[in-house]
Amino acid sequence: MRAADIQDDLTDILVTEEEIHAKLEELAAQVATDYSGKDLLLVGVLKGAVMVMADFSRRLPMNASMDWMAVSSYGASTKSSGVVQIRKDLDTDLHGKHVLIVEDIIDSGLTLSWLLENFESRGAESIEVLALLRKPEAAKVQIDCKYVGFDIPNEFVVGYGLDYAESYRNLRDVAVLAPHVYS
Ligand code: XMP
Ligand code: MG
Repeated sequence: MRAADIQDDLTDILVTEEEIHAKLEELAAQVATDYSGKDLLLVGVLKGAVMVMADFSRRLPMNASMDWMAVSSYGASTKSSGVVQIRKDLDTDLHGKHVLIVEDIIDSGLTLSWLLENFESRGAESIEVLALLRKPEAAKVQIDCKYVGFDIPNEFVVGYGLDYAESYRNLRDVAVLAPHVYS
């Protein structure tokens, strides 16, 4: 796909790379203060959270271990099914760990609510969530998310790790996907 073609697939840019980096810097300082002296485990949710994890964790002025989980509730559609499937489980035992789940976006909240319940049953000492984006109008379940980057309108967005059918993840900004692409 050529650069010009990609622009045709997007409408507004909602959050720029610069805004994302500035926000992650802020959140990293906050997290470092909150977890000072604690054993912190960052759990990234594949694949969307790859960019957030990379940029957030490198701004974190403290040691933290890192693990990944792959779940899917979407397939190639733009709506959450609520049916969550583990595609790759953690390698880490959560007993006694302070877990910070790193997510790209909270949409309906169904994926995270399932993950939170799942992690609680594994004996973590504490569990919090960091999400770069959140769509308040799309919430089907309330998620207690301690660290939120940006609240955005209820539109399907891509870029900075977020995909539509595995495309657009490598865009630097977060942009609204033009409806003609998926309708
Ligand atoms: P739920 O609805 O369970 O969704 O909170 C969580 C997961 O769904 C994906 N998601 C999106 N992906 N643009 C995307 O590219 C979006 O606007 C969007 N909304 C939800 C994402 O993987 C998220 O972790
Ligand atoms: Mg995701």
